[in-house]
Amino acid sequence: MTHYGGPAVAAIEEQMAAVNIHGEPVGELGWDELPDEKDIPINEDNYSRIRLRLDKPPQPSTCYVFLGDGKENCTFSGAFAQLRRSSRGIFSTDISVEIEEEEEEEQVEQVEQVEQEEQEEQEQDDWPKRLRIDATKMGENRGEFLLKLYPNQEKPSRIVLWFQCPWTAYGQDNQELFLRDIMAAAAKVQNPGELLLIGLCVDTFLFHLASYVKRYGSPKAAAEANGYKCMGADQEFVGEMRSRGYEHRASTDRKLGLERNDQFATLLFQRKKPDPHPTQG
Ligand SMILES: C[S@@+](CC[C@H](N)C(=O)[O-])C[C@H]1O[C@@H](n2cnc3c(N)ncnc32)[C@H](O)[C@@H]1O
Repeated sequence: MTHYGGPAVAAIEEQMAAVNIHGEPVGELGWDELPDEKDIPINEDNYSRIRLRLDKPPQPSTCYVFLGDGKENCTFSGAFAQLRRSSRGIFSTDISVEIEEEEEEEQVEQVEQVEQEEQEEQEQDDWPKRLRIDATKMGENRGEFLLKLYPNQEKPSRIVLWFQCPWTAYGQDNQELFLRDIMAAAAKVQNPGELLLIGLCVDTFLFHLASYVKRYGSPKAAAEANGYKCMGADQEFVGEMRSRGYEHRASTDRKLGLERNDQFATLLFQRKKPDPHPTQG
């Protein structure tokens, strides 16, 4: 089921059509450790510095689910699809995505007019795949979550979850709890070895941002408590996204004017083995 957002979504569609990104993915996410470079301090922890990259050869059986990707603006997942030169397997989700009944009915009618194979092809390539997903309640198990993403198609073998700049409407002081809830929900649907990325605005110099990062407490401790190992933090990858159209927005969809890569850190967590909370595959 595909749900379209507002104007920014249309702009990304155009951008993507222009560079023909509906082909096979050029690679999958990997990372390099940078042991000789300085750690990144975030609140009370130090994160070893890593550099995210796309691996070759491609492993197209991975899906990338961007959580909290924006109300109308989904430029982060759009930029990632540009980098990967394919939107295949990429989902842009947010709790604010509206489910439009009329659109659903229209889709059912259309489905009746096309062959099953054509329908599957269309659903695979349709961009953006906008879904309403609550990052704190993704599903009771892996199977339930994958069914939301791929109701009719073959399911991918790996799930990458990525929340760029989580911020909850629970209340300003509850970001730490929010992060824990996201990680607990992720642990229900991910298998050992799978990746969870959390992008944070870590700028403590800009007055209006100064207190943001402190509200998350210790993401590392939250990850440990939920069965994830912290692999490090990247302070360059957001630059790759920014150069491909990513514009950070607040929960209200307002632009915050963040212009530098080092104002962000992308924290990389990996689901630990053995899995302390077994889920069904
Ligand atoms: C600070 S904005 C970041 C938006 C976008 N990722 C970016 O970097 O520009 C936080 C986003 O999280 C979404 N959000 C808040 N609570 C959520 C939840 N429980 N599940 C999924 N998304 C949520 C909001 O709707 C909003 O789009």
